Amino acid sequence: MLEYDVVVVGAGLAGMRAAIEAAKASKVTVLSKVHPVRSHSGAAQGGINAALGPDDSTESHAFDTVKGSDYLGDQDAIEILCREAPDDIVELEHMGTVFSRDANGRIAQRPFGGAGFPRTCFAADITGLVILHALYEQMLKTGIKVFEEWVVTSLVVDDNKIRGIIAIDMRSGRLEAIKAKAVVLATGGCGPVFHNSSNALISTGDGMSLAYRAGAPLMDMEFMQFHPTTLKANGVLITEGARGEGGHLLNALGERFMARYAPQKMELASRDVVSRAEQTEIEEGRGIDGCILVDLRHLGARKIKERLLQIRELAIDIAGVDPIEEPIPVRPGAHYSMGGLKTDVSGATLVPGLFAAGECACVSVHGANRLGGNSLLETIVFGRRSGKAAGEFAASVAAPAFPESAIRDADARIEGILKRDDGEKGYALRRELQETTHENLGIYRTAGRIQRCVEKVTEIKERYASVIVQDKGRIFNTDLVSAIETGYLIDLAQAMAAGALAREESRGAHSRRDFPSRDDDKWLKHTLAYWTPNGPRLDYLDVTITKWPPAERSY
Ligand code: FUM
Repeated sequence: MLEYDVVVVGAGLAGMRAAIEAAKASKVTVLSKVHPVRSHSGAAQGGINAALGPDDSTESHAFDTVKGSDYLGDQDAIEILCREAPDDIVELEHMGTVFSRDANGRIAQRPFGGAGFPRTCFAADITGLVILHALYEQMLKTGIKVFEEWVVTSLVVDDNKIRGIIAIDMRSGRLEAIKAKAVVLATGGCGPVFHNSSNALISTGDGMSLAYRAGAPLMDMEFMQFHPTTLKANGVLITEGARGEGGHLLNALGERFMARYAPQKMELASRDVVSRAEQTEIEEGRGIDGCILVDLRHLGARKIKERLLQIRELAIDIAGVDPIEEPIPVRPGAHYSMGGLKTDVSGATLVPGLFAAGECACVSVHGANRLGGNSLLETIVFGRRSGKAAGEFAASVAAPAFPESAIRDADARIEGILKRDDGEKGYALRRELQETTHENLGIYRTAGRIQRCVEKVTEIKERYASVIVQDKGRIFNTDLVSAIETGYLIDLAQAMAAGALAREESRGAHSRRDFPSRDDDKWLKHTLAYWTPNGPRLDYLDVTITKWPPAERSY
């Protein structure tokens, strides 16, 4: 059996940053479903926030983040995020990240939604990809072993302590166990719970779900961010940087409709506000074929080619529209889970030795609505912090015993799926799941619709117990992996819907037509979801307020 001090699951920005830091104290390995530079962080386009300029301040960044979170973010964690951001950007640059520059040769910064200052550092519109490559180089330099195309199927927890993981090596099809003193989950989000998602197909909430099943609570799962500008055909992102560079949102009448919803910030209001505005325009008949338009024509060909080159290519390839000449049709799409595994500011979950960072974690720095540019920042700040904590934790404890029965149990579960001939196909169940979340758990919610979603997801979960696959082999069985992933998505959808039904208020991305106002008296609290065989058990936790008492939020 393989043995490491720390296993990092996921090789996106949070995972690689955690691994590099953990390796300073411990022997580390990284597991990834894909080659590290194919991780979903590579799809992050617009940038990473930090108060760098002399006229900006970390205090102002923190306030914008608290307000953006609709006062649900934990302010101690937000202060850490914003205070540590500038040094982390400098470190990323020293690691080799090639940021775009301003006219004075300094790191360029563009305005982003909900921010009081242009503080989003960027590398054209491929920021995530550029940082991903820099971290990958650092990881190679550190000599960290990466197991690529390994899919984790179990977290091994015994006596409430982490013992390691079990994964499928896709190439051989074999189940492999790795004994470890600490595990850092950095498996990203779970956008494919919804069908109109900007997320990669690999972002199936694996870490969230595995840890949830192993006893770690999920927090605030009812808050799913709908990004205002995704392509209709496949949910691919058109960066907020397009609006940051001056792009306009237009309805079918050619109106800059944001004037009605956020007269001061217009297109650069926070994402929950912009997505709701778009949805309202579409539902009230001022959309175009279920979309609204992003108009960049006035920016001119030179700026578009220099700063927004990737989205121009995506718009041409996918929507058949060249933004130099025509506006791009877009619509809101499921983009980012503000919820995730509850962690402290060192990434520790409630299971000793189990850490989480990035989108799969909920620290909580995003509360009810994340500001654009803060997710990349979170991966770096809290990836580093969780890697440090995991590395030091592993260096301070003895090697745990690994229960052999865990491998037999995992193998029996896989064999059970492979041998079953009678049942339902995983991809059909996933499609039904995505249809019900799209219909009933979207931008606007009501008790009736959420209840329908709860019932449908419960039914899908029962049917999933007899899921079947058509590929009965072991080698590179993507049918099997997809069926396993569908199980993760179902569990997470249950937690989202249960949290949404209980939360009788509107806050950030959770917008209830039957409870249209924020209700701080009853709902200024985090939702915790604990796994039980009968569905999630909910509990609640106070929000940490340090400096900024909840106030009315307008843009
Ligand atoms: O629009 C974007 O470029 C996305 C950025 C983010 O989600 O932080």
